[in-house]
Amino acid sequence: MDRILPLLLLAAAAVVLGAGGTEISHNNRALVIDGERRIIVSGSIHYPRSTPEMWPELIRKAKEGGLDAIETYVFWNGHEPRKRQYNFEGKGLPAWLRDISGMQFRMHNDPFEKKMETFTSLIVAKLKEAKLFAGQGGPIILSQYTLDNSSSTSATSSSTSACFISNKFEDRDVNVTLDDGATHVIVPAWSVSILPGCKAVAYNTARIKTQTSVMAKKPHQLPETTTAAGQQQPMWSWMPENLAPFMTDEKGSFRKNELLEQITTSADESDYLWYRTSFEHKGEASYKLHVNTTGHELYAFVNGKLVGKHHSPNGGFVFQLETPVKLHSGKNYISLLSATIGLKNYGALFEMMPAGIVGGPVKLIKTTSNTTAMDLSNSSWSYKSGLAGEYRSIHLDGDDTRQQWQSLNGTIPVHRPFTWYKATFSAPAGSEPVVADLLGLGKGVAWVNGHNLGRYWPSYVASDMAVRLQRHLQGGRGRGPVPLGVRGARPAVLPRLVLFEEAGGDPSAAAFKTVGVGAACVEGVQVGDDVALACGGHGRTISSVDVASVGVTRGRCGGAYEGGCESEKALEALKKACVGKESCTVRHTEEFLVAAGVSGELTVQVTC
Ligand SMILES: *[C@@H]1O[C@H](CO)[C@@H](O)[C@H](O)[C@H]1NC(C)=O
Ligand SMILES: *[C@@H]1O[C@H](CO)[C@@H](O)[C@H](O)[C@H]1NC(C)=O
Ligand SMILES: *[C@@H]1O[C@H](CO)[C@@H](O)[C@H](O)[C@H]1NC(C)=O
Ligand SMILES: *[C@@H]1O[C@H](CO)[C@@H](O)[C@H](O)[C@H]1NC(C)=O
Ligand SMILES: *[C@@H]1O[C@H](CO)[C@@H](O)[C@H](O)[C@H]1NC(C)=O
Ligand SMILES: *[C@@H]1O[C@H](CO)[C@@H](O)[C@H](O)[C@H]1NC(C)=O
Repeated sequence: MDRILPLLLLAAAAVVLGAGGTEISHNNRALVIDGERRIIVSGSIHYPRSTPEMWPELIRKAKEGGLDAIETYVFWNGHEPRKRQYNFEGKGLPAWLRDISGMQFRMHNDPFEKKMETFTSLIVAKLKEAKLFAGQGGPIILSQYTLDNSSSTSATSSSTSACFISNKFEDRDVNVTLDDGATHVIVPAWSVSILPGCKAVAYNTARIKTQTSVMAKKPHQLPETTTAAGQQQPMWSWMPENLAPFMTDEKGSFRKNELLEQITTSADESDYLWYRTSFEHKGEASYKLHVNTTGHELYAFVNGKLVGKHHSPNGGFVFQLETPVKLHSGKNYISLLSATIGLKNYGALFEMMPAGIVGGPVKLIKTTSNTTAMDLSNSSWSYKSGLAGEYRSIHLDGDDTRQQWQSLNGTIPVHRPFTWYKATFSAPAGSEPVVADLLGLGKGVAWVNGHNLGRYWPSYVASDMAVRLQRHLQGGRGRGPVPLGVRGARPAVLPRLVLFEEAGGDPSAAAFKTVGVGAACVEGVQVGDDVALACGGHGRTISSVDVASVGVTRGRCGGAYEGGCESEKALEALKKACVGKESCTVRHTEEFLVAAGVSGELTVQVTC
C-alpha cells in the first residue's frame, strides 16, 4: 500500500513503486528499473478531479486493478492562474498564455517552451525538495512534458523500433498485417499489443483478467442520529441575479469601439461577459436583432427585457442569434451576455480559437426587406466580466449581511432564469465518494462549500457540445462534472450547495448521492483460474449474480453479454459463494463447462 504513491508530473508523469533509492534508467527498448527491463502498466489519476481524502482509496483500487504505476498531469492553470502567481491549493493551460505574442500552445514554439520551462522547473524543484523522485527514495520514476507536434520522439530506425497496436473496437478482434507484409497480429477487442522489434507480441493488455466495475449513484443513507426534521427535504432559498446594472448606463469596466474576444477580455476570471451599447432612435419600430458569435452561449436583452437566447449547436462554435425586437423612441440599450462552457484543449492552433462576439457583426435588420438598418459592430461597447453575484461572492456564501437570500418556508420560484439557489444538506453517512446530482436543473454553475464544481447542463444530450467542450485546460474554472468528495469528517460537514441557474430549472430534486460499485464483472477466465469479485468496500455487498456464462462472450459490464452459454453450475457456485459478501473468490473448473467444443472461458457479472 505504501509502495505506490501519487505523484505529480509535468505534462504526463508516471510513478511507480519506489521503495528505497530505486535506480531508473532506460535504453532504446525499455524502461529499466533496478537493472530489470519492465513493462509498466500505468493508469491516470488526475488529482484535481477528486479530493485529497479520496486519493488513498483511488490508488489502492488502481493497485488492486493491476496497475503498477500511476500517471498524473500537473494542471498548469490551477497552479499558475496568473503569471508568476502560484497556487498549489487547488488545472490545464492558463488563459494568460494566449496573450503572449507569437505563442503557440503545445508546439515547438519558443514562447511556449520558455514559459513552460519556468513552470516545469518550479514543479521539479518542489518534487525534489519533497524527495519524491525514485533516485531520492521516492515514487516518481518518470516525468515528461508533451508537445502536440514533437519531432523528438519520432527518430525511429527499424532495428530499434517497437510497435504498439491498439484495437478500439469493443466487439471484435482484428487481424493486423504490419508494414513488412509478413507479420500478422491478432489484436483482441479493446486492447493494446506491444511488439518489441515489431516482430512478435510480447504483451497484450487483454491478458489482464481483473474486475471491471461500473459505478452507480444512490441516494445517501442519512446518519442514524438524524432527527425527523433533518430527514426532510433541504430548505431552499433563492436570490435573483441583479441584471439591472448592465441594462442601463451603469459604468462597465471599460469601453471600446469594437466587439472583443471573450477569453482575453475576461482573463478567464468568469465564464460570463457582458457587452452593452446604446443608441438614439426616432419613434417606435420593429427590427430583427442579428448577432454573430463564436460561442458558446448568448442571451440578448433589449431595454432590459430578455429577447432571445441561443447556444453553439452540435459542437459547432460559431452561431447566429436572430430575434425580433421592438425599439422605443429615444435611448435604446442592447445588452448581450455571452457565456463560455469550457474550451478546446488540444489540436493545432487551439490557442487561437476565439469565444464570444468577437467582431460580430451585431446589427438591426429591417423585417420588411431583410436589409441592414443599423450595423452596431463598431459602436461604443461597454464591457463587464462576471455576474453581479460573483462580484458579491455570494457563491462563497460568506457572512455577508448584504446578501438577501429569500425563503418562504422553502418555497422558491422555479424555471426562473438568472436565479441563485442555496440549500444545506444533511451530511452523507458512510465513506463512499459523493456526487451532486443536479437533474431537474437547466444550465449553470454549481459550488459546494465555496468550491466551484464547474458547469452543469443536465438537459443537454451527452453526444453534443457537452462532450466536445469538456472543460479541461485553459477554460476550466471548476472541476467539471466529477465526483465530489465532501471534505472533512463527514457528519461534521454539511454540504452547502449554491447554484447559479441561468436558463431556468427546478432545484427541488437536487441531491447528494454516494457513488459505489454498481456492477462488477470478470471476463475471459480460463479453467483453473480464479474469479475474484469485490464491491469496493464501504460495507457494500453482492446482491445478485447476473451473468455466469462460458464461451466467447462480448459485451460491456453493466449491460448485456452475448455469445456465451449460461452455466447453471457456475451460477450456483457463484451465488453460494458471493451473494451477501463484500467480496468472493470462486475457481473456474471443468465442471462449469456446458458442452464439449465450446471455449471454456468464463464471464461473470454481479450486482453490488
Ligand atoms: C510540426 O510543425 C512543423 C512546423 O511548425 C510542420 O512543418 C510539421 O508539418 C508539423 N508536423 C506535424 C506532424 O504536425
Ligand atoms: C490474418 O491475415 C493474414 C493476411 O490476410 C492471413 O494470412 C492470416 O491467416 C490471418 N490470420 C488469422 C488468424 O486470421
Ligand atoms: C461569424 O463570425 C465568424 C468568426 O468571426 C466569421 O468567420 C463568419 O463569417 C461570421 N458569420 C456571419 C454570418 O457573419
Ligand atoms: C427575410 O429572411 C427570412 C429568413 O431569414 C425569410 O423567412 C423571410 O421571408 C425574408 N423576408 C423578406 C421580406 O425577404
Ligand atoms: C468596423 O471596423 C472595422 C475595422 O476598422 C472595419 O473593417 C469594418 O468595416 C467596420 N464595420 C462597420 C460596419 O463599420
Ligand atoms: C412555515 O412552516 C411552519 C412549519 O411547517 C409553519 O408552522 C409556519 O406557519 C409556516 N410559515 C409560513 C409563513 O407559511
